Amino acid sequence: MNNETATIFETAFENEIYQGLKDYPKHLSSKYFYDEKGDALFQDIMDMPEYYLTDAEYDIFTNQKEEIANLFSKSASRFDLVELGAGDGKKTKVLLHHFFGKGLQFQYLPIDISQNALDQLESSLKKEFPNMKVKTVQGTYFEALEEVTSTQENSKIILFLGSNIGNLLHPQAVTFLKNVRQLMHENDLFFVGFDQKKNPQAILDAYNDQTGITAAFNKNILARINSELGGNFDLEKFLHWEVYNPETGTAKSYLVSQEEQEVIIEKLALKIDFKPWETIHTEISQKYDDQSIHWLAEQAGLEIIGEFIDSKKQYKNYVFKKQ
Ligand code: AVI
Repeated sequence: MNNETATIFETAFENEIYQGLKDYPKHLSSKYFYDEKGDALFQDIMDMPEYYLTDAEYDIFTNQKEEIANLFSKSASRFDLVELGAGDGKKTKVLLHHFFGKGLQFQYLPIDISQNALDQLESSLKKEFPNMKVKTVQGTYFEALEEVTSTQENSKIILFLGSNIGNLLHPQAVTFLKNVRQLMHENDLFFVGFDQKKNPQAILDAYNDQTGITAAFNKNILARINSELGGNFDLEKFLHWEVYNPETGTAKSYLVSQEEQEVIIEKLALKIDFKPWETIHTEISQKYDDQSIHWLAEQAGLEIIGEFIDSKKQYKNYVFKKQ
């Protein structure tokens, strides 16, 4: 995005939608899939049998919680467990139960952009763990992380789960990891989920389910443009399309215009023309192997101190510290 367009509209959402639809080829960022409806659709995706990622990370936490607890408590006798993008905390609760039951000295600091998600998480945690110390932090990852890492009182263990890192291209992922590293102190740990390369068909199935939930999730960005920016996208005229390149490990989602059409977005004073079969690229979901994770760590100045794999060998959690 250049400065000229950044000053035209009031919000990053408006600027990025405008820029992305004016570019060729067209693109929109998957971070805009998420509103109340998008959050609910993503929740449904995580419950789908095809979307193996959630079960795989759950499997790691359930079967290796003791090893994870040992690694964390070895790094610090008292720590803050900080989670970036906590959502409903379903998987994390497995660890919380175990850590709490073992009497580890920690407090849980879930970070999320959505105050609504944090309020719900806080009330469910209060019921399940009435005596656990929880401090929710609302904000973008880095604002909130800056806030919580500014006190050196306790060591920090930062969780970034669900292969959320995969929604970043490699150069962006390196920048992201470097930014986290900059906020880490010597004994802090960074615990990250990475979906692994596997049978390409399994990946295509995970991102192209028969029930159409992923298609609705992808199209939710058009629904948001319609409701929030006065757009007139006809969602039926777009196809959800997924491709996976087993060489690079990159899964890409597109919306494909099935016919020539014109779309108006009133709030942006924008008229967009689509040729038949023209695409909008909306998301990348990167898949990794050991080599690519070692490369990312090296680029970001992080050292790998542990790794955990699920029983079906589909997914890994890596633990990093500052080099
Ligand atoms: C949030 N993120 C890690 C998910 C993924 O796997 O890329 C989003 C998603 N897109 C389609 N299905 C799930």
